Amino acid sequence: MAHIARRSFLKNSLTAAAAASAPLVFRNSLFAQASSSSTRVYLDTRRALAPLDRNIFGSFLEHLGRAIYEGIYEPGSSLSDAAGFRKDVAAEIKQLGVPIVRYPGGNFVSGYHWLDGVGPRKDRPRILEKAWNSIETNQFGTDDFMAWCQLVGSKPLMGLNLGTSTPEMAAALVEYCNVEKGTKWSDLRRANGTANPYKVEHWCLGNEMDGPWQIGHMTAVEYGMKAADAGRQMRYVDGSLKLIACGSSNNSMPTYLEWDREVLEQCFDYVDGLSLHRYFGNTPEETGDDSTRYMALNLSMERQIAESLAVCDYVRGRRHSSKRLWLSFDEWNVWYRKRSGSDVDGHGQVAPHLLEEVYNLEDALLVGGLVNTLIRNSDRVKIACLAQLINVIAPIMTNASGFYRQTIYYPYAWALKYASGSALKIAVESPTYESLSADYRERGGKFNEAVPYVDVSATFDRAAGETAVFLFNRDLASARDVELVWEDTAPTRVLDSLVLTGNDLKAFNGFDKPQNVAPKGFDKPSTANGRTKMQLPPRSYTVVRFGA
Ligand code: AHR
Repeated sequence: MAHIARRSFLKNSLTAAAAASAPLVFRNSLFAQASSSSTRVYLDTRRALAPLDRNIFGSFLEHLGRAIYEGIYEPGSSLSDAAGFRKDVAAEIKQLGVPIVRYPGGNFVSGYHWLDGVGPRKDRPRILEKAWNSIETNQFGTDDFMAWCQLVGSKPLMGLNLGTSTPEMAAALVEYCNVEKGTKWSDLRRANGTANPYKVEHWCLGNEMDGPWQIGHMTAVEYGMKAADAGRQMRYVDGSLKLIACGSSNNSMPTYLEWDREVLEQCFDYVDGLSLHRYFGNTPEETGDDSTRYMALNLSMERQIAESLAVCDYVRGRRHSSKRLWLSFDEWNVWYRKRSGSDVDGHGQVAPHLLEEVYNLEDALLVGGLVNTLIRNSDRVKIACLAQLINVIAPIMTNASGFYRQTIYYPYAWALKYASGSALKIAVESPTYESLSADYRERGGKFNEAVPYVDVSATFDRAAGETAVFLFNRDLASARDVELVWEDTAPTRVLDSLVLTGNDLKAFNGFDKPQNVAPKGFDKPSTANGRTKMQLPPRSYTVVRFGA
């Protein structure tokens, strides 16, 4: 099986020594060893990065397991509408405000023929889906996804099959989606019941094409040329598209960064962004099952961003181009428990239970840290997708009678609700702890790094006069005092203040205990003389929203 081969491939590549990483670099925040035990965060609303693109809080739905079928689409259910969409799930996604949803894969897309999923349902073929060894009924396809996006208020981020399909069919899908009428593919859309074009702006040129597990896997040069041709043909159809090339699938790939360089050397002129993916886990290989190391892993995401940007800018510099690529972190999450055997093999079933990871408190805290990293890098990361959205490594789990929210739901929901305006370039002085690095390979992999106990990101919305501060206390044992130092104007009031914490790092939610891990009110911190003081509980993620 492609995915099983993938697992063993990843394991081998993790144990193999890769090139040593660059020293720890944080582009948009400053961490330093503090002399006292309290943390200081310096905020100045004049130091704003570029306006935050809300697409960095996107998500992902793949034809995989129960994400689509039984997740968002369940015809015949009393919970569904006339189109078969789960009303409870749609209402939840709408209130969350997910700005963009990647679809239809993932590994699935590399063997998917979009024509199978459009037109009268009775004529759509039942397919043996190879990436996850499942049966794909095609009862949900492109037009259904567009209708669902409209229902929930999200934009589509469309994935294209550059594995078994062609640039010509990629351009045909653009024509199907974006041309009004009078051509073969636009008229097919109209015949299938949709008069107005969908005007899909963002497109992924394939998925993880560097991975030996991927259907249609090829070399970087081959993929780069195919992506360039797809981009060329797609832009002939619609010149306004934003196109994303496949970068490295994770930072442990033996071709990490080399792949990205070689791909961009072929297709730089045709793309706007480069993708990167990453899944984290508290595993013997990654962290030695040590939660203090696990809490530091968002710093590894930060390095991956810096390294991928370095390659984009290297290729740009070599070409003397004015074009500055952005990054699409279009798969990120915690995923380590449900990665083998029947959790990744559908055994020829429709909607099998695949990748149904159950998240605990420590996973949610790390997801908070990963959100912080995305906010801090939002000047160059313009799209990011929490992978995925429903039932499959997801914040929301459904059954026939409802849904519940997993622990990781909360930091993601807070980002959607409270982060707005621009990320602030903050300076943080935090005490640190020594932790074995996830990335550095010198000294036989025994490389300790200094990890700040408190990890912070902040956004400032000038129009609303609001500042949101997101604080991750990695200290698993002790509370941490924090002082926010307002360098220009101090806020006058606290609008919201919430914390996610608990005594048991391994606690999780379920249908039988949906509120076991849930946010609590956090005492509103007070501000005097331009300083706000607060104490973060141990093992916690906190958001405070301030008004002018
Ligand atoms: O999100 C699950 C899988 O992880 C996706 O299908 C693939 O792109 C990645 O390897």
